[in-house]
Amino acid sequence: MNDARRPPGPKGIRANARAALALVTEPCRPLDELSARYGPTFAVGLGPLRLVVVGDPEHVREVLGTDLDAFRWRRVFRNLAMVVGRGSMLVSDGEEHRRRRALVQPGFARRRLDSWVPLVVAETDRLIDETVGHRSAEPVDVDLYELTRVLVRRVVVRVLFGQELGSRADEIGELLEPAMSYAGQPVLRQLPHPFPFTKRAEARAARRAVDRLLDEELARCRADHDPAATDLLSALVGADDGLSDAEVRDQVVTLIAAGYDTTTAAVAWLLVRAVATPGVWSRLRAEADEKLDLDVENVDADAFSELGWSGAVVREALRLHPPGAFAPRELTRALGVGPYQLRRGTLVMWSPYLMGRDAGSWAHPLEFRPERFEGRSSSDARSDLAWAPFGRGPRSCIGFALAQMEMTLIPSRLAQRLDIESTESAIPAPTGMVVSRPTGGVAARLRNRAGEARAPVPDVGSDPVVPG
Ligand code: HEM
Repeated sequence: MNDARRPPGPKGIRANARAALALVTEPCRPLDELSARYGPTFAVGLGPLRLVVVGDPEHVREVLGTDLDAFRWRRVFRNLAMVVGRGSMLVSDGEEHRRRRALVQPGFARRRLDSWVPLVVAETDRLIDETVGHRSAEPVDVDLYELTRVLVRRVVVRVLFGQELGSRADEIGELLEPAMSYAGQPVLRQLPHPFPFTKRAEARAARRAVDRLLDEELARCRADHDPAATDLLSALVGADDGLSDAEVRDQVVTLIAAGYDTTTAAVAWLLVRAVATPGVWSRLRAEADEKLDLDVENVDADAFSELGWSGAVVREALRLHPPGAFAPRELTRALGVGPYQLRRGTLVMWSPYLMGRDAGSWAHPLEFRPERFEGRSSSDARSDLAWAPFGRGPRSCIGFALAQMEMTLIPSRLAQRLDIESTESAIPAPTGMVVSRPTGGVAARLRNRAGEARAPVPDVGSDPVVPG
C-alpha cells in the first residue's frame, strides 16, 4: 500500500505489537491514548494481525454504509462459534446471514416489544423486594452490577421463552454462565485447544447442557404452538419455511450471549452516572412518579414511551459508555475510507466509544449531560452521526429496542422505589475486552424510598437473590 494512504499509527515492530496486544486485551485506555496521538482513525499491528480502528464519525458512516459483501464475520468470530454455534447469525456471512436474521427479526415486532414492558417492570419490582425487603428502612449494601446481571438474565430468559420457562430463568442463566464468560475473555486466551478441564471445555459442556434444555422446549413449543404467544421462541418456531432446530438453538444462544453482558454493562454504567451526577436521579424519580403506576398491572407501552428524561439519560449513558468499545469486521476486498486505502484482509474495528467522545461532535464530551439529548434540532446532525452504540444498517443490533426498553424502565423504577447512594467516590474505570463494564462492579447502599412500603409481587418461582 502507498504509505501516504495508510492510516497513521505506531512505527516499528515492537510499538505495533504492543499497541495491538493492548487493544485486544483492555481496549478503552489504548483507544484513548492511540487516538490522542494519531487521530480517531489509525492502524496498528503487522503482518497477519493488522487492524484499523475507525473512530472518525464520517469514516464510520462510510464503513457501516458499505455493501456487506465487502466484509466477513465468520473468521473474525471463529472462537465465538464454539459457544453460539455455526448456525448463528453472528458468525454468518452473505445470504446465510440475511436469511437467518430475517427469520429472527419478526420476534422483535412492536406487538411483542409492547408486551415486554410490564414484564421488565415486574422483574425490577421483584428484585427490589427480594433485595431490600418490602417494608424495611434499613440500608443494604450491594453490588449493583451483580444485581443488574440477575435482573437482565431473568428478563432475557422470560422474553425468549415466555412465562413458563421464564420461571427457570436463574437455572438457565447459570447453565449458560461458563459459555458467556468464555466468550468475554481476551482474545489470546481463547486460542483453540483440545484440553479438558479448562474454560474452553467448560464452555463446550455448558453449551451441550443448554442444547438439551432447548430441545425439550422446542418440542413443547412445536407440539402446542400458539400464534398469539409473545415469546421469541414461538416466533422462531412459527416462521414458515423457517429455521432448522439446530439453527433455532443457535439463534437462541446468540440472543442470550449478545444481549446479556451488553445490557448489564449498559444499565450499570447508567446507574453509576445517574447516581453520581447531581439532579439526574431526582428527575428520573419525578418523571417515574408521574408516568409509571406503582401497580405493575397498570403499566403499559404508553407509559414507557412517555419517559422522555429517562430516554435522554439512556442516550447519554450509551454515548459515554457504549458496552462495545469497538466492533470487528474483516475486509474481503480493498476499501477506500476517507483519505485512506485499506487492504483486503484488514480487520476493521469501528468504534462507538471514540465517536461518543469526539470533541468535534459533542460539547464537553467527557461530561455526563443528558440535557444534550432533550429538544434536539436538525443542527445536531453531526452528533447524531457520532451516536451509534448499536451500529447501523443490516448488521446493526437486532435487540436494540429491547435493550433500550430495559435501560429506560429499570433505572426509572429503581428511582421511583429506592434511595441509592454510591459508596465509591470515583467513577470506576472500564474493564473487559468484548463488553466494557465498570471495574470492581458498582458498590452502592440501597434503602426503600423514605416513608414508602408496598405489597410484594407474586413469586414466579426462582430463588431469591442474596445481596452482595
Ligand atoms: C445496550 C445493549 C446492547 C448494545 C450496546 C448492543 C450493541 C451491538 C452492536 C454494536 C452490534 C454490532 C453491530 C455491528 O458490528 O455492526 C450488535 C449486534 C447484535 N446484537 Fe446487540 N447490543 C445490545 C443488546 C442486545 C440485545 C438485548 C440483544 C438480543 C436480545 C442483542 C443481539 C444482537 C445480535 C444478535 C447482534 C448481531 C446482529 C447481526 O449480526 O446481524 N443485542 N449489538
